[in-house]
Amino acid sequence: MKLASTKIITVCALILATNSAIATPATSEKHANKANELRHAVFTMLGANMGALGAMAKGKIPFDAKVVEKNSIRINQLSFMIADYTSTDTSAYKVDTTALPDVWTKREAFEKRINDLTIASEKLVKASTSGDESAIKAAIGGVGKTCGGCHDNFREE
Ligand code: HEC
Repeated sequence: MKLASTKIITVCALILATNSAIATPATSEKHANKANELRHAVFTMLGANMGALGAMAKGKIPFDAKVVEKNSIRINQLSFMIADYTSTDTSAYKVDTTALPDVWTKREAFEKRINDLTIASEKLVKASTSGDESAIKAAIGGVGKTCGGCHDNFREE
């Protein structure tokens, strides 16, 4: 009896530890549409904050370290929202999305890509106050790579 309850506690702890990797299916079309909307909102905000940084790295707009600092902090914060706002599997419903089903079936690989963005954006936040323009531009490139790295595997072309 004692052994059995220890086992149950161990199983529960394991489920808790891996909980973030689990995706749950949408329960209705309305739910799927709402989840899709929120998922797009997070990526739209990522795009909005990355746009200026990419343009600076390419020399298309004037370089401004203060903007890099502000936007990289936002990108870092947004990276922590991706797991939650992509955890509802909408693949059984007709929603307007470019997300591939792997977003929900290969959760661990997807979360590794999220983590890559978290780390790269942290590096950019640090670099942004260094005063070293070329290092900052390189760190912007590092963030951009993690966007593309996930899109290559988890988003339709
Ligand atoms: C962990 C994976 C992942 C990372 C990291 C990631 N994306 Fe995405 N992104 C996606 C997926 C999946 C979609 C498709 C969402 C959909 O259509 O439902 C997407 C969609 C987008 C869209 C289109 C949004 C829309 O409304 O159609 C933009 C813009 C975007 N991402 C920008 C970025 C930028 C910029 C970064 C890096 C700063 C980034 N993403 C990092 C997975 C990722």
